[in-house]
Amino acid sequence: MEFVRSIPAEPLDPNDPTEQRQQLNVITSFIDASNVYGSSAEEEEELREANGLGFLLKFERSRQGALLPSTEREICITRPRGSSSAQAGESPCFLAGDERCNEQPQLATIHTIFLRLHNKIAQKMAAAIEPGSVENFNETVFQSTRRVVGAIVQNIMYGEWLPIALGQSTVDELGLSVEERSQYDPQIDPSILTEFSTAAYRFGHSLIPRRLPAVSSRGSRTSLRLRYQFLRPEVVRSRFNDLALGLVLANRSQDQAQAVDSSVSREVTRHLFEPRRRRGFDLVSFNIQRGRDHGIPPYNDLRQSCGLRRITSFDDPVLGNNGDRLRELYACIVGEQMYRLKFGDRFFFTHDEDDIRFTDVQLSELHKVTAAVVMCVAVPSIDSVQQDAFLEVDPSSNPLVSCEQVRKEFLNPADFVVEAEAER
Ligand code: HEM
Repeated sequence: MEFVRSIPAEPLDPNDPTEQRQQLNVITSFIDASNVYGSSAEEEEELREANGLGFLLKFERSRQGALLPSTEREICITRPRGSSSAQAGESPCFLAGDERCNEQPQLATIHTIFLRLHNKIAQKMAAAIEPGSVENFNETVFQSTRRVVGAIVQNIMYGEWLPIALGQSTVDELGLSVEERSQYDPQIDPSILTEFSTAAYRFGHSLIPRRLPAVSSRGSRTSLRLRYQFLRPEVVRSRFNDLALGLVLANRSQDQAQAVDSSVSREVTRHLFEPRRRRGFDLVSFNIQRGRDHGIPPYNDLRQSCGLRRITSFDDPVLGNNGDRLRELYACIVGEQMYRLKFGDRFFFTHDEDDIRFTDVQLSELHKVTAAVVMCVAVPSIDSVQQDAFLEVDPSSNPLVSCEQVRKEFLNPADFVVEAEAER
């Protein structure tokens, strides 16, 4: 299997021969919606509409509604569903803030949802501003919207996803709850720990299901075999609505994410990016080799630095199934990283910094924007969604709510306008 080493970063001190090799990041470390806006001013420029519509992100009109724009810079694959004998072709990839959006259609669907969220908020904000009442109209609307979308992503990550992944008590112990106001700490290093990206957060690979949930053209549940979907934006171009509905339905059926454990689907251990009539790659081998490439310390050393006991046997129960959430070493590394990404981020949405703070009223509006709300607002074909979109529907603890109602109650973008300073 071909393996390419990560690009090494310049040493901080070229005269220090003992300095360890580090790797370069491609995207920002912060949870700042860089997957929507890119990680540099140039990327943002490329993703934005030009001229009079510069407050919007570029999008492609289609029968499925607004989709991500295409780029000819990268070539993706077209291959009819489930067929290994059919001709493999080429089609342009999607362009988004993170190039990995093309990796599999569910990811591209989520990228599309956030593109639509930006444009929906920006359009409403633009319509609410009196012509001539603000300077740099496009920049004001674009950046004010970006600030709201960034806060929504943080609210979902810290308010909904982390309590599931780490458990509410760990979230509370680390001060990661979004319910209270917080303070920026300039002493905290917000860069990504290689132990986080190269090892711990790859726990997500054990959740990957064999089939991606979707809805058929007749409205019944169906699913797409994952091995045939890699690098295929065509699937989203023709079936965005089916996939978006599948995301919501996934938690209402048996097509849920798999457990947090050491078993990984063959779709990615044998068939990752599988070309026609050839063998695919093995994601777990990539992970192990990437760990060596980046010099990840031995498991027991990391346990020790997290204050956990060293283990002496492969039969130790901590190596078994984690069940439904991260524990022990995984919880330690993910918790530490999320702590740094909150308190080391000057712009974190709950921070009480004078020049960036959301008002109490704005904050309480943002708290209401959950993943379920985003789904309803961005996908008109969804009628209802469970309150907590990450969890299974349950009539008493996690009931379905009507999207019509959710859309009516969605925050008023006009309340979030902040005058931009920069010329555009
Ligand atoms: C079908 C779904 C997925 C596929 C096909 C996939 C595939 C990949 C691939 C090919 C890599 C690069 C491996 C390397 O060369 O080192 C990677 C990295 C990674 N994946 Fe996934 N992945 C999936 C889902 C997930 C999920 C659900 C999570 C977490 C919740 C996740 C977390 C990560 C992380 C943290 C990295 C390292 C990124 C970095 O170092 O910048 N992945 N994945």
